[in-house]
Amino acid sequence: MKTINKLSSYKELSSTVADIIEYQIQKEPLSRLVLPTGSTPLGLYEELVNRELDWSSIMTFNLDVYIMNPNHPQSYQTFMKKHFFNKINIYPNRCHFPDRNVEVYEQLLRIDFNTLPDLCILGIGTNGHIAFNEPGSSFDSRTRVVSLSEQTIKDNSRFFDSIEDVPKQAITIGLKTIMGSKKIVLMANGKHKKDILEQAMYGKITEDVPASILQKHDNVEVFYCD
Ligand code: GLP
Repeated sequence: MKTINKLSSYKELSSTVADIIEYQIQKEPLSRLVLPTGSTPLGLYEELVNRELDWSSIMTFNLDVYIMNPNHPQSYQTFMKKHFFNKINIYPNRCHFPDRNVEVYEQLLRIDFNTLPDLCILGIGTNGHIAFNEPGSSFDSRTRVVSLSEQTIKDNSRFFDSIEDVPKQAITIGLKTIMGSKKIVLMANGKHKKDILEQAMYGKITEDVPASILQKHDNVEVFYCD
């Protein structure tokens, strides 16, 4: 069981997680961060941009990407550039996204540097997914191509012109890969996330609720606002 820290506003959620990232990159300028997309971290990225931190030796790894043209306005590559990377002094060649060379990504994340990612920031889907590890994903999963669940396609259709435009497949880092991070922070925003978050943090640890695996990690912080 993990504590769900309830914050008073979305602004506080964003600044609390920004504080954790700021502390990490100042303590360790060579940090390797695993980063999320979705609507939840938008305020976090805005807050980090405003803080004008030094990102010049930081390396980032995104959690997941849709299988689609990376230049599409709704691709996660475009999202990260638009909301974050183009606004900070990070080197583009230090910003990594999963691609079909899944083993190479996995290797980059955990073997090549002979160390584990320092900090992984996560959101949570309404069905309990983390990254694009949908319900039923193995707790032993690594970076791979996945099919999105109907629920996720429906939830994410708000970003597209129509539900038919939502990609059906994605590449995601695995649950085991996520668990390899030294520290994990889970962010959830909105009443519609409350039930699944409580199920994940207080309920049974089961592959039916992928985020429940986080109960087994000894350095996880969970922040929620409604
Ligand atoms: C997508 C992402 C997840 C994210 C989830 C929640 O499905 N792949 O990593 O956690 O959306 O999104 P939102 O923050 O928009 O609710």
